[in-house]
Order: sequence, then C-alpha cells, then structure tokens
Amino acid sequence: MKKIVLLGYMGSGKTTVGKIMSEKTGIPFFDLDEIIEKNMQKTISELFLELGEIRFRKLEHETLNHFLATQIDFILSLGGGTPCYANNHLQLQKEGITSVYLKASLPELIKRLSAEKAHRPLLASKEGDEFQEFIAKHLFERSYFYNQAKHVVSVDAKTPDEIVQEINTLLT
Ligand code: S3P
Repeated sequence: MKKIVLLGYMGSGKTTVGKIMSEKTGIPFFDLDEIIEKNMQKTISELFLELGEIRFRKLEHETLNHFLATQIDFILSLGGGTPCYANNHLQLQKEGITSVYLKASLPELIKRLSAEKAHRPLLASKEGDEFQEFIAKHLFERSYFYNQAKHVVSVDAKTPDEIVQEINTLLT
C-alpha cells in the first residue's frame, strides 16, 4: 500500500514531479485540482469566480476526504492551498500517508509564477510589487502547514528527474 501526497506552493512542480514518479513506480497519479474540475465540469478559475474562495475550500476539503477514504494506492498532487485550510493538514498526518513538501524559495517561485499565473485565480490579476508581496506573505503564512509534511525536498535548481530520484531515495 503506497499513499504518497505531494504538497507545496503553486509553481513548486507538484504535478510534474507526481507524473514522473508515477511513471517510474507504477503507482497511479492523481491531481486534486483535476479531480475537482472533472467532478464539477468546470475549471478551477471558473469555480473560484462562481463559488468564491471559501466555498471552493469547502469543496476542496470534501474532495480530499472522499479521495483519501476511497483510494488505496496513489501519488496525489494537492493544490497549493489544500494543506492550509479546513484542518486538511491533520488528514495528511494519518497513518499510512507519506507527505512530501516540494520546497521552492521565494525568488524561485516569483520567477516561475510570473510566467504561469494566468490560470491561477489567486495570482492572475496581480502585477509588479503587489504580485511579489502577495506571494511573500502567502508563502510565509502557508509554510507552517507545509513544514508539517513528513519529508521536505528543496526543488530550486533541480530538474524534475533529480527531484523524483531524491524522493524515491527518501521513501525506500
Ligand atoms: C491554489 C493553488 C492551485 C489551485 C487553486 C488555489 C492555492 O493549485 O488549487 O488555484 O491556493 O495555492 P496549484 O498549486 O496546482 O497551482
């Protein structure tokens, strides 16, 4: 039985790393945002707009609970906010679940997210100083939850393959 959860800020590479890990290990990969989008037949941006963030967090919480209660073997990539709301971090500490925080530095995240913020509703409208300050504050607030993961892997200046190799070594 393998239950591996990847967490970390937006842009930290959770989905990319999860897919490669899955190819290498044969453990099936799931992405929580994709599950929500499939269930609701709407994009995350549409759901944020229609529900607002608080109701999105409730939906995210329910989707995570249902997933954890029903899936046996998995590599699950969470949304960047998932461990930080509705006591989801406690669910992730349950026996049998191996959580891995993909830790990117603030400058690295600012660099990566400047190029890929369009589909991220929390960032899409922010520019310049406001964009950078939002990420800095957000990361500071969220780090408390991220650091409760069982393993922490720094991802700056590493390729996805190197990160996967590091995680596989940690988990064997
Ligand atoms: C969010 C991260 C997103 C998505 C939603 C909210 C967040 O997932 O769940 O836009 O609060 O950090 P990614 O981390 O996969 O971009």
